[in-house]
Amino acid sequence: MAASSSVGGHLLVLCLQLSLGVSVYVLDDRGGLGREFDGIGAVSGGGATSRLLINYPEPYRTQILDYLFKPNFGASLHILKVEIGGDAQTTDGTEPSHMHYPDDQNYFRGYEWWLMKEAKKRNPNITLIGLPWAYPGWIGNGENWPYDYPDVTAYYVVSWIIGAKQYHDLDIDYIGIWNERVFDVKYIKLLRYTMDKYGLERVRIIASDNLWQPIAFYMLHDPELLRVVDVIGAHYPGTITVPDAIMTGKKLWSSEDYSTFNDEVGGGCWARILNQNYVNGNMTCTISWNLVASYYEELPFGREGLMTAKEPWSGHYDVSSPIWITAHTTQFTQPGWHYLRTVGHLENGGSYVALTDGRGNLTLIIETMSHNHSICIRPPLPKYNVSAQNATFHLQGSFNDLSTLQVWYSQLDSTSGKETIFKQLSPLKVKQGVFTLELGVDEVYTLTTLKTGKKGSYPDPPASQPFPSKYKDDFDVRNPPFSEAPCFADQAGVFEYFTNTSDPGDHVFTLRQVLTQRPITCSIDPDQAISVIGNYNWTDMVVSCDVYIETPNTGGIFVAGRVDRGGSPTWGAKGVFFWVFADGTYKVTLDLLGKIVLRKGLSGVQAGSWHTLTLKIEGLYASGMLNGYPLWKKMLVIGPLHGWAAIGTSALEFAQFDNFSIEAS
Ligand SMILES: *[C@@H]1O[C@H](CO)[C@@H](O)[C@H](O)[C@H]1NC(C)=O
Ligand SMILES: *[C@@H]1O[C@H](CO)[C@@H](O)[C@H](O)[C@H]1NC(C)=O
Ligand SMILES: *[C@@H]1O[C@H](CO)[C@@H](O)[C@H](O)[C@H]1NC(C)=O
Ligand SMILES: *[C@@H]1O[C@H](CO)[C@@H](O)[C@H](O)[C@H]1NC(C)=O
Ligand SMILES: *[C@@H]1O[C@H](CO)[C@@H](O)[C@H](O)[C@H]1NC(C)=O
Ligand SMILES: *[C@@H]1O[C@H](CO)[C@@H](O)[C@H](O)[C@H]1NC(C)=O
Ligand SMILES: *[C@@H]1O[C@H](CO)[C@@H](O)[C@H](O)[C@H]1NC(C)=O
Ligand SMILES: *[C@@H]1O[C@H](CO)[C@@H](O)[C@H](O)[C@H]1NC(C)=O
Ligand SMILES: *[C@@H]1O[C@H](CO)[C@@H](O)[C@H](O)[C@H]1NC(C)=O
Repeated sequence: MAASSSVGGHLLVLCLQLSLGVSVYVLDDRGGLGREFDGIGAVSGGGATSRLLINYPEPYRTQILDYLFKPNFGASLHILKVEIGGDAQTTDGTEPSHMHYPDDQNYFRGYEWWLMKEAKKRNPNITLIGLPWAYPGWIGNGENWPYDYPDVTAYYVVSWIIGAKQYHDLDIDYIGIWNERVFDVKYIKLLRYTMDKYGLERVRIIASDNLWQPIAFYMLHDPELLRVVDVIGAHYPGTITVPDAIMTGKKLWSSEDYSTFNDEVGGGCWARILNQNYVNGNMTCTISWNLVASYYEELPFGREGLMTAKEPWSGHYDVSSPIWITAHTTQFTQPGWHYLRTVGHLENGGSYVALTDGRGNLTLIIETMSHNHSICIRPPLPKYNVSAQNATFHLQGSFNDLSTLQVWYSQLDSTSGKETIFKQLSPLKVKQGVFTLELGVDEVYTLTTLKTGKKGSYPDPPASQPFPSKYKDDFDVRNPPFSEAPCFADQAGVFEYFTNTSDPGDHVFTLRQVLTQRPITCSIDPDQAISVIGNYNWTDMVVSCDVYIETPNTGGIFVAGRVDRGGSPTWGAKGVFFWVFADGTYKVTLDLLGKIVLRKGLSGVQAGSWHTLTLKIEGLYASGMLNGYPLWKKMLVIGPLHGWAAIGTSALEFAQFDNFSIEAS
């Protein structure tokens, strides 16, 4: 039999190569396969990480989406996980809820619906996951806690799943509990019960999007919980798991990982965890935070996406190395394939995994990331000592007869001058089931029977440009189905397009802050609402906006410049804030909380009528105008030297904005 003669051949090669210091690795499916592979994915959200993507002009927006989702083109992701907007600041901004208030349902807010549809359009098989990072305040009936009324919380989440289907024809595959917060056993069971009641038996539950414990322990001691949780999802597991998690017999996922600046080092981090999450930690799915860095870079965790697309005004974007590192796995595997049991570490550092479709196809992915190229933002830091090595692979079982493998190669060390990203090399000849690779440091190889791989490309996008120094938006021209005005990045509160059909003319189409209650959130959201826009490096600027306070007596509204921070927490934001209040006063402060007061006075502003605020900041001084007349002049502002422009409200209350404009320098 061919098999026995090739075994003889193996032994001969093996002896020769061992004598040359070659390490031998066997890839074999006899004796069964390893775990089922569930795919590689990425997160949009947690929060507002895709904010600027929707504002890209075509054809660039389509190109970016193709690099992310199109099969056999770029990252070709198997999974898209999105935030179920909860109206709260969840890292890089707030995402709107489908239910701001108990009697409210709207499945056209934000951009996650759109993103899921675009992903699905490109890959109908893509797995969709929804996870709340925060909940609207009413869920907790005033408490900062979503589990006191678990039926309300389950109803809220199930409404989102049903809305996805009803309004967008999206089938959600998995649903999570509460991002990186405590879980509640009663709630998880009730969620399962509620989904079943609504015919959503196919939607599976991931818990608890935090650490392996205590969820694994609870599952082992509660048969019903064990039954209803389909996947244990851990965040930033550092490639390892715990015995209790393995003992549950459930699928183990790294349901959020990576979070690393997307240069070659980030690419190396990603290559290492994609392999080693399985090799070291039995994880069959790894999900990157985040999908695409489409938020102002000075917000927290700038550029920690698989690629960067943060300039809708120029159309510029960067297809970074993590896209192609993803392709090394995603283009040559599918969810439903199985890992082989024969996976592991390489003698001189690095790792290999092999997967099969069970029908003869084989994909082998090898990475040799050194310390320098595998540094991930979350510990444990790797202590890998990697050096060049020869590795001989023996294909056995179903793979013994393979004669050729396609080869895709990356070398991530840009300082070596040899940087290569996802390049197809000549096919490799396999002789009697054996081949040897000379592996260098910081390399990734994919060897596969599949011939479908492709390094997709588009012409270079336009050059990077700063945010335009003159910018206007009167909110009349809208971009349905998006509820948010271009480039405004809500950091607290939610700002949405609003149409007032009874307005006599000038202010039919406005932007409105719509939150009236603090959301349930882990970050310390301020009591104010704020949306930032522009270039963080702006120093001098004139910010002007028509404003309309809706809350009599106590309402307040502001325009601001040189705003120096957003993200969680935003409450520490400094800048120059020009406020007017419905009680007829104004103030100028250096902070969002309104405590560092430079001046207070009377303005005559009232609720229920429109006023124009103009803030001019020049060098060390600022001045403010109301309805075109100076209200305060030449005030010394010793605060941040630069920052974004912003609009906002003094509390979570309805208020409107119109005719926004900036002139900056
Ligand atoms: C979707 O999955 C089916 C069945 O597994 C497969 O035949 C098809 O090629 C997949 N489509 C894409 C675009 O991956
Ligand atoms: C988990 O991974 C370890 C190390 O690769 C392996 O020995 C073990 O068989 C795996 N266990 C399961 C249940 O997959
Ligand atoms: C591998 O996959 C391709 C595409 O799905 C399929 O046509 C082929 O039969 C499979 N098996 C082998 C051994 O190539
Ligand atoms: C690699 O990292 C080490 C320390 O972590 C540093 O000393 C060395 O300069 C780095 N090498 C490169 C090429 O960046
Ligand atoms: C790394 O490996 C080389 C060669 O095997 C060895 O000489 C060196 O001591 C190792 N360094 C560390 C930090 O383990
Ligand atoms: C790998 O094998 C080749 C050919 O035998 C040899 O020239 C080379 O030095 C080996 N490389 C390493 C790192 O051992
Ligand atoms: C809409 O416009 C009418 C007429 O100006 C005004 O009375 C009403 O308060 C406006 N409604 C809102 C919500 O702004
Ligand atoms: C701001 O300036 C810094 C330093 O010159 C630069 O690195 C950064 O890219 C600039 N940011 C923007 C948004 O232009
Ligand atoms: C706002 O802009 C619109 C159109 O640009 C204009 O008609 C209107 O007069 C402006 N409103 C105010 C109060 O300036």
